[in-house]
Amino acid sequence: MKIELLSADPTQAMSEIADCVRLQKEVGWGDETVPSHVFRADSINVVDASIDLGYVLIAKGAGGVEGFARVTTTKDPKVHWLHEIVVGPHSQSKNLGFQIMNKVREESLCRGAQSLLFTYDPIEAHNGNLYLTKCRAEAPKVYENLYGNLGSKAHANRMSHRLLVHWEFKKAPITIPDIGDVPEVLELSDITSDFIKVEVPFRIQMLSAEDSSEWQKRVYPVLVHAINALRYRAVYLHADKLTERAHLVLAR
Ligand SMILES: CC(C)(COP(=O)(O)OP(=O)(O)OC[C@H]1O[C@@H](n2cnc3c(N)ncnc32)[C@H](O)[C@@H]1OP(=O)(O)O)[C@@H](O)C(=O)NCCC(=O)NCCS
Repeated sequence: MKIELLSADPTQAMSEIADCVRLQKEVGWGDETVPSHVFRADSINVVDASIDLGYVLIAKGAGGVEGFARVTTTKDPKVHWLHEIVVGPHSQSKNLGFQIMNKVREESLCRGAQSLLFTYDPIEAHNGNLYLTKCRAEAPKVYENLYGNLGSKAHANRMSHRLLVHWEFKKAPITIPDIGDVPEVLELSDITSDFIKVEVPFRIQMLSAEDSSEWQKRVYPVLVHAINALRYRAVYLHADKLTERAHLVLAR
């Protein structure tokens, strides 16, 4: 699998962009899909170095584009913003997301950035595993219903609560204690020790809209209180594949 910038050839680039739009549909984003002209605008510096809105990376295999990441610049040249990362359903959980994130790190470092900001839904354990556990990024803030109520199939009936993730490319990751030694938060009054854990659903995609909404109501107040009020950061996602249970680990 090759991970590279969109092609500098406009015809080839538009065909790769069409694949990026297709991948978003395949993961269920429906009406929330980012259209091709936005990809084109954000990759324009591929053909004109005087414009730097960001870049788009694509992962190309034998069957075409299997994943992508769209990154934009911010007013701080040392900070980039990851708008989307998508890996096609058949290529997920095979380390491709991690390879794309590492290429983003490399590309952003090359362009002078030292960190990447982005958001993800804290009840998506799969995503938390990639960002917190594999990349070792940290989430220092929670936003309530950031994008409003998204109409896509993948997010039906869920509020768009999001963790803000900060990936400092050169920061050494903190050491996480054995998960069995980390106290579980069941009530807000349990938030006392340096490390705490809160359970999140293992596979949100398998749950009914009602059940996902119940999980949100359980997890979100803990995150808001611990992170926004008490200044904890989400630092790790522990997934037990045998018992199919997942916990977010927060550190103070
Ligand atoms: C999120 C996404 C980009 C991850 O890509 P990916 O290629 O699956 O990522 P990786 O395989 O590198 O890493 C995922 C890790 O999560 C693990 N994982 C898979 N399902 C999991 C689950 N239900 N709970 C916890 N971890 C899970 C994988 O096994 C893998 O860990 P491992 O390498 O230790 O085995 C991809 O799933 C995706 O495109 N999802 C749909 C779109 C989306 O949500 N985009 C991100 C928006 S913020």
